[in-house]
Amino acid sequence: MTRRSVVVGHGAYLPEKILTNNDISKFIDTSDEWIAGRTGIRERHIAAEGELTSHLATKAAEQALARAGMTGADIDVIVLGTTTPDETFPAAATKVQMAIGADHAFAFDVQAACSGFVYALAMADNFIRLGQARNALVIGAETFSRLLDWNDRTTCVLFGDGAGAVVLRAEEGNGTSDDRGILSTHLHSDGRQHDLLYADGGPSLNQQAGVVRMQGQEVFRHAVTRLSGVLHEALEANGLAPEDVDWLVPHQANRRILESTAKKLGLPIEKMVVTVDKHANTSAASIPLALAQAVDDGRIKRGDLVLMEAMGAGFTWAAAAVRW
Ligand code: ACO
Repeated sequence: MTRRSVVVGHGAYLPEKILTNNDISKFIDTSDEWIAGRTGIRERHIAAEGELTSHLATKAAEQALARAGMTGADIDVIVLGTTTPDETFPAAATKVQMAIGADHAFAFDVQAACSGFVYALAMADNFIRLGQARNALVIGAETFSRLLDWNDRTTCVLFGDGAGAVVLRAEEGNGTSDDRGILSTHLHSDGRQHDLLYADGGPSLNQQAGVVRMQGQEVFRHAVTRLSGVLHEALEANGLAPEDVDWLVPHQANRRILESTAKKLGLPIEKMVVTVDKHANTSAASIPLALAQAVDDGRIKRGDLVLMEAMGAGFTWAAAAVRW
């Protein structure tokens, strides 16, 4: 028997305010045509004043717990992927813990930029498989709009705010790719690419949060190669082929990156879940938000093979193969 982490609940939360490309074009020199043409993004949600990452995360977590038929008291570990925590410390995950009454859980944040959700999922899966936790809450949540220079049209049009969550429960499987649950996770980093994507602030650097600085074309080039590579790695690890994949749930950065990655994998575009048009890039929140949408509208069903992939600053990149 093999211990597996099975997804038993999912949740999502998007702030009420929607900012369209046309709205942005009223205060900087850009257009809906340019943004949508280059990225596929048409609008994004923006957190209200006083609405923090932990608030978004808590709302998504509450929905995931309700769908799992659990309360906070059932959770052993909370792992929150975020690049925009409420404060430099403590971890925003501990605020979620308090809000949901997960009194006996241990809780911490993971900082892996846009790969944060897959990293968080991998960590929770490892705790479950080692027997250190039975039920885990994994969240990706961001108020990324607060890390943007709203005068820099090359970056501010790309990002948005939101949160998504899943509840994992330990179950016994046979150790084959037919088992329900997380089949494998694959994590990578390469610090040599720091200068291509980073925030120009931090507590140690200058006591500021900073704003996003990016060399977009270089990021794009690396993203397509690394993402198709890590997806092949996930398939090979489980003795699976692209034809076995029911759904690809990618990190939502840019529609052109998504399409190139699917093409490189030989996967029809229809098998890819796309939310970048409505959410823009919500960093660590984008995969669980896309998952929630595809489960809610009936696309992802029990037994489906779901591949997730992400790449972000660091660089970090990662994939997970999950039998839903
Ligand atoms: N509106 C209008 N014009 C713009 C805008 C804008 N918002 N932004 C840039 N431009 C202009 C530039 O100034 C440039 O003008 P110029 O030719 O007169 O100098 C022109 O458009 C072309 O700029 P490029 O940077 O060459 O445009 P490109 O086709 O590379 O698209 C983009 C830029 C969309 C950022 C693209 O490189 C990209 O998506 N890269 C991936 C970055 C990414 O997704 N990062 C997210 C984090 S990492 C991740 O999640 C994978």
